[in-house]
Amino acid sequence: MSGGDGRKTARNRIKSSTSTVSGEDHRELRNRKGLRKERGKDQLRILDVNFKLLLGFTIVSSLVALFFVFRSVQFSDGDDRLPRVITPFPAPKIMDLEMFQGEHKESLYWGTYRPHLYFGVRARIPKSLVAGLMWLGVKDGRYFMRHFCQDADELQTYGWNKHNGRNFGHQVLIDHGMTLTTSFLKSKVDGSGYGGDWAFRVGVQSEKLNEETPGSAHLFFYVADEGENALNLGRSVTEIHEKSMLAFGSRSDVGGWELHLKSLDDFEVHHVGLKTPHIHNLSDMVQGILALQVRNFGHLELPDTSDASPNILVYQISARTPFRADIAFVTGTDIDNARVEERVNGLTGTSLTSQLHKKENEFDDKFKKIFNLSDKLDSEFAEVGKAAIGNLLGGIGYFYGQSRILFPQPSKHRYGGDSILYWPAELYTAVPSRPFFPRGFLWDEGFHQLLIWRWDMHISLDIIGHWLDLMNIDGWIPREQILGAEALSKVPEEFVAQRPSNGNPPTLFLVLQDVVCGMMKNKFSATESKEISVFFERSFGRLEAWFQWFNTTQSGKYRSSYYWHGRKESQTIFELNPKTLSSGLDDYPRASHPSEEERHLDLRCWMLLAADCMRSISEQLVKKKESMKAYGETAKLLADFDLLNKMHFDKDYGAYFDYGNHTEKVRLRRQLVEKDGNVPSLELVREVLEKPSLRLVPHIGYVSLFPFIWKIIPSKSWILEKQLDIISNTSILWTDFGLRSLSKTSSMYMRRNTEHDPPYWRGPIWMNLNYLILSSLHYYSKEEGPYRERAGTIYNELRGNLIQNVMKNHKRTGYLWEQYDQKKGNGKGAHPFTGWTSLVLLIMAESYSEC
Ligand SMILES: *[C@@H]1O[C@H](CO)[C@@H](O)[C@H](O)[C@H]1NC(C)=O
Ligand SMILES: *[C@@H]1O[C@H](CO)[C@@H](O)[C@H](O)[C@H]1NC(C)=O
Ligand SMILES: *[C@@H]1O[C@H](CO)[C@@H](O)[C@H](O)[C@H]1NC(C)=O
Ligand SMILES: *[C@@H]1O[C@H](CO)[C@@H](O)[C@H](O)[C@H]1NC(C)=O
Ligand SMILES: *[C@@H]1O[C@H](CO)[C@@H](O)[C@H](O)[C@H]1NC(C)=O
Repeated sequence: MSGGDGRKTARNRIKSSTSTVSGEDHRELRNRKGLRKERGKDQLRILDVNFKLLLGFTIVSSLVALFFVFRSVQFSDGDDRLPRVITPFPAPKIMDLEMFQGEHKESLYWGTYRPHLYFGVRARIPKSLVAGLMWLGVKDGRYFMRHFCQDADELQTYGWNKHNGRNFGHQVLIDHGMTLTTSFLKSKVDGSGYGGDWAFRVGVQSEKLNEETPGSAHLFFYVADEGENALNLGRSVTEIHEKSMLAFGSRSDVGGWELHLKSLDDFEVHHVGLKTPHIHNLSDMVQGILALQVRNFGHLELPDTSDASPNILVYQISARTPFRADIAFVTGTDIDNARVEERVNGLTGTSLTSQLHKKENEFDDKFKKIFNLSDKLDSEFAEVGKAAIGNLLGGIGYFYGQSRILFPQPSKHRYGGDSILYWPAELYTAVPSRPFFPRGFLWDEGFHQLLIWRWDMHISLDIIGHWLDLMNIDGWIPREQILGAEALSKVPEEFVAQRPSNGNPPTLFLVLQDVVCGMMKNKFSATESKEISVFFERSFGRLEAWFQWFNTTQSGKYRSSYYWHGRKESQTIFELNPKTLSSGLDDYPRASHPSEEERHLDLRCWMLLAADCMRSISEQLVKKKESMKAYGETAKLLADFDLLNKMHFDKDYGAYFDYGNHTEKVRLRRQLVEKDGNVPSLELVREVLEKPSLRLVPHIGYVSLFPFIWKIIPSKSWILEKQLDIISNTSILWTDFGLRSLSKTSSMYMRRNTEHDPPYWRGPIWMNLNYLILSSLHYYSKEEGPYRERAGTIYNELRGNLIQNVMKNHKRTGYLWEQYDQKKGNGKGAHPFTGWTSLVLLIMAESYSEC
């Protein structure tokens, strides 16, 4: 399929590549990507937009005007200026705010910001010194190198079961017979360089003895410089037991630094030094070196050699299990060398043990204070809750690179095929799933932030600020962020480029709305409140442009109607129902024949949220009367119950639907087709057995509940009762494990969309929508009205079912999952998935909208 940038398709493709494609093919894929990257290098460009002129506009006129003024400026071929789509939004960056500098920035400098690795550390700068752990796993008598999180490794469990997003984390990984624990700790003391020091502790235990290597473990810890600066091997790495220093160097950011290894156990250390820009395939290189060593010398040891001026140093630590090692990274050693040993001792051994304990207790206390589960649920639940927030926070990453944007016109900014490069940008973001989706996804991010702002407001604002800074002059934000070689190596070529005509649900408004309401209720400290105000002042122009992008490019034919643009008619002959990837709900059934007549109910409701949120920000925070009025009017229009009913309500079903050119009479049939002049082959082709007509699209599912979710339905209305019927009916949405995405009665229920597309949002249970629905049930259970009690009963049962099922799966499989099967409740798809599935913690805590 051409240029689809949905998560689903990418997921299926990746899944099949990990399960069926050999290691050879993986490498092949990565090699190709590496070459492409090389070619792209000379195309990096400094942006040369006239900022002064643009800034003038932001100040004097509303952004609505700005939007239209610049819309009309067309860049002709051969024009020297950047194409609009890769022109940054003309306003000061949010991340340049004072609040994100100084102490804040330094405190977040180092972190476990490489979530795609089982363990990896980097700083929040483009060309960082990076570190990571690899080890040899054993399966069926064969060794496998573990490094990037991947399903094919079949680990029984892994994930940060505690992590505070700042300076402490603890992770357990079970790799067949071997259990590893990794701990991370940061410390800033007198004499530390910028960003302070950090320590890494790894413990290994193995259950069963292996014949060749009885109870032994081979760990590979590495440091690498992305800037390709040379690193120095510790002078006495051969006498590591006495001297402890593995490596040292000097950087402009942190000054002199040293890396030390300490352990009380017996171990051997071997090393190799490499000079190469390809840090992204380090594990392949190390595997190759080991294979050569085994072939030539018969032992599994790195050769203790090094390229001249290496930028990567890999240390093999081999030991009998159980085994524990501490690695300390200390900075500022050029200034204060006298106390280095003392500082290394402080970050290893018993001192490290006691600091880790202290941090662990602090984490537990904070968890208790924020989520307050203890009185509601027993401790088993708290453990899963901690693992949910722990791996969400521990999964926060920092990425740097350039997105690719689909751009069919000729341009000197062309980057192969039909794409051009976005400007080089950084992104600090949580990720949905470390092995499958270790990068930024706009629609997931709003849900992540519902948890993260409650935990650490500063981290949350920092993440949201990064996302909004990715906005272009049109108010568009690319929805999937594939930044840097490591991120690229995880995504198949055809899914990389983003379409600038496609949106994605503006879920960040969920958290912004919460924050505004939190402000009104004095939830925040004085400093926090001040920063939040400053943040909104600075972001307001961007948020306006974001809103306007949706309000203009995604509007429908009739006033107050909207639809997700970009559904493709051309694809329809192979798809049972043309997908709507931009909605986030990929294959959720919509009108059978995409047209300009469409009205998408979910988008209409997202627009209500956005308008209402903009209204509150204008009123409460930035005090702009005019904007308040404009957004207020739009919000009022979209919340108009009668108008909504006219456009989307079906009296016979008692349900809300999309509207469009539709027929139910479609099916897939195998037919001979000729594709691109190839020999005809048998393919599933869609047949339409009845002429489509303009009508409501009769599929009950998550989309039908959007007016309920946004509380548009008055609490005394009979329509509310209908929604409760739909929710609680086992033939429709109710299961013992949560609410199905699509009704059992729908003609598309659990139907494949193409030969290669199994159902995704056509039945399975998803936590993000269940959370929103539950939140609304909670609301209606408190509102005066005839259905109050019933809403309360359903709320309690649904909440119980969701929690129990996630718990049961976690116990059985060791993971939180992307979705849950609606028949048996089994976890499905990507795992660990501690993106929006982590919302189960807010469900446990009964923590919903602040408004
Ligand atoms: C690593 O990647 C580079 C470029 O992407 C490639 O040339 C090299 O062969 C790769 N090495 C291994 C061992 O896969
Ligand atoms: C925690 O929950 C209990 C009962 O559920 C409640 O009484 C208590 O006030 C809550 N504490 C906080 C800090 O919210
Ligand atoms: C959104 O678009 C509609 C239709 O063009 C317009 O009437 C309305 O004023 C817009 N809302 C805002 C807040 O700009
Ligand atoms: C509905 O789709 C059919 C088939 O593509 C087309 O002939 C018809 O014009 C469409 N109707 C509208 C109102 O778009
Ligand atoms: C549940 O929905 C089915 C299918 O629409 C319907 O036949 C049945 O009567 C409903 N059950 C209840 C209890 O409303």
